[in-house]
Amino acid sequence: MTSQDKRPVVVGITGASGAMLAGRVIDMLLEMDTPVMATASSAGRMVWREEMDETFGSCLERWQDKGEFTYFQPGELTAPIASGTFSTRGMAVVPCSMATVAAVAHGMSDNLVRRAADVCLKERRPLVLVPRETPLNAIHLENMASLARLGVTILPPEPPFYLRPKTIEDVADFVAQRVIHALGLSDALPDHMRYEGPSGRA
Ligand SMILES: Cc1cc2nc3c(=O)[nH]c(=O)nc-3n(C[C@H](O)[C@H](O)[C@H](O)COP(=O)(O)O)c2cc1C
Repeated sequence: MTSQDKRPVVVGITGASGAMLAGRVIDMLLEMDTPVMATASSAGRMVWREEMDETFGSCLERWQDKGEFTYFQPGELTAPIASGTFSTRGMAVVPCSMATVAAVAHGMSDNLVRRAADVCLKERRPLVLVPRETPLNAIHLENMASLARLGVTILPPEPPFYLRPKTIEDVADFVAQRVIHALGLSDALPDHMRYEGPSGRA
């Protein structure tokens, strides 16, 4: 089943480890026929270069060929996703650095990822953060707690050990599926994209 709702999902990519997670979330949304509007911070692109075999530029081209996909530069503060009057289905920041967690928790909208997240907060739209840092200090935890109290889903990219994942791609698929569920879109997730693990437990 694919979605009839043509409002886009916003995906923000920041400079935390886990670039692969962003790739899988965008791939899955486009496979579900959901329009995607994405932006990445400059640190997000730096980490992408470190962690991924496929260049960010070639991924952008692939996503544009695959479905309704629009990319905005992080400095494009006139992009539609920077305004509350432009309707979206919500946003996932994946992976989400502690710097972006702090900025969003304190209303500091100094790039398009942070501004688009702030728009979701003020418009009370779904906002899902996939924070990645270890260990976490009290500042990180307090910022995440403030956001959780505002209704933000804090979704750390924890491996589902109980499903006995075999590869890092299995873990990425599981996390991407949880992000899609947290955005309220899991009804449109085709069966073949559901990671249930060797034991079949979701
Ligand atoms: C290879 C690499 C990996 C990083 N991993 C993390 C991480 O897992 N979590 C984190 O909070 N910051 C991480 N950082 C630091 C952030 O990229 C840095 O704080 C940056 O300013 C975040 O900016 P942004 O939130 O605008 O993307 C990493 C940096 C590099 C270069």
